[in-house]
Amino acid sequence: MFPERLARAAERIQRHFDQVLRDLDQVPVVQAMAYATQGGKRLRGFLVLESARLHGVAPGQAIWPATAIEALHAYSLVHDDLPCMDDDDLRRGRPTVHVKWDEAVAVLAGDALQSLAFELVSHPESGSAEIRAELALSLARASGAQGMVLGQALDMAAEAASEALTLDQITMLQAGKTGALIQWSACAGARLAGCDPEPLRQYAGALGLAFQIADDILDVEGDADKAGKRLQKDAEANKATFVSLLGLDGARARASDLIEQASAALDSYGSEAETLRAAARFVIARES
Ligand code: IPE
Ligand code: IPE
Ligand code: MG
Ligand code: MG
Ligand code: MG
Repeated sequence: MFPERLARAAERIQRHFDQVLRDLDQVPVVQAMAYATQGGKRLRGFLVLESARLHGVAPGQAIWPATAIEALHAYSLVHDDLPCMDDDDLRRGRPTVHVKWDEAVAVLAGDALQSLAFELVSHPESGSAEIRAELALSLARASGAQGMVLGQALDMAAEAASEALTLDQITMLQAGKTGALIQWSACAGARLAGCDPEPLRQYAGALGLAFQIADDILDVEGDADKAGKRLQKDAEANKATFVSLLGLDGARARASDLIEQASAALDSYGSEAETLRAAARFVIARES
């Protein structure tokens, strides 16, 4: 069953985080980093582990980039929740980092989690020097000013815009904000094995958009206790989302089309890719 597989991957990633952070001085910023890496679905780390398995890469090798992407994702959430961004006080069912500590600790813990991500992908056990350089370069591109940060910047700018974004503009925003890290995760297994990541890139392009549509739908009609974060905030903040443009039914229809596309992109892998197809179905059915 998919939820059990995801839970097993989450446990492995958590153990790895515990090992990596245990050796650091337990100053507040490190405590905040550990706190920010706890919980969550671990979908991105799971995609790294599963795409690696699909390419015959050893789990002991794949755990490094899997933990790296979860560190990078945790940084993006700590900063996303800051008062100058989405101003949220609840994340994964607990107070956000700037509420539990303060804004300076949250900024610095986010910064250090980003650095940690690059340290982890560059670890000798993640692969040859060439593979590690390729992972680090692609992660820099996915997370920076042509990837996640660009998407976050467009998301913030859209709040203040007087005109609604077009479907193309929203798609571009979401492909950066959410899609880029999901794409990197799914492609990582092929990169670790020195194979062509193109089918996984196609899969994850559709998956990332569907994932963000599900997040936008949850914001409107989800259960806050299950989601572990405040909901019904996007409309009030004038966020540009697929739901704001297509409505709930339109967004749901778009998400199921995208899941079909994601599954079809894996045809060349045959039944071996069934777990990744299950991940795609999970992404739009999830409640958190
Ligand atoms: C939340 O991501 C932020 C978005 C990109 C929508 P997740 O829904 O994957 O958050 P966690 O890691 O499970 O908490
Ligand atoms: C956050 O998107 C995306 C990143 C952190 C890169 P959202 O702002 O929609 O995520 P939630 O709803 O706060 O989890
Ligand atoms: Mg946001
Ligand atoms: Mg947010
Ligand atoms: Mg959201």
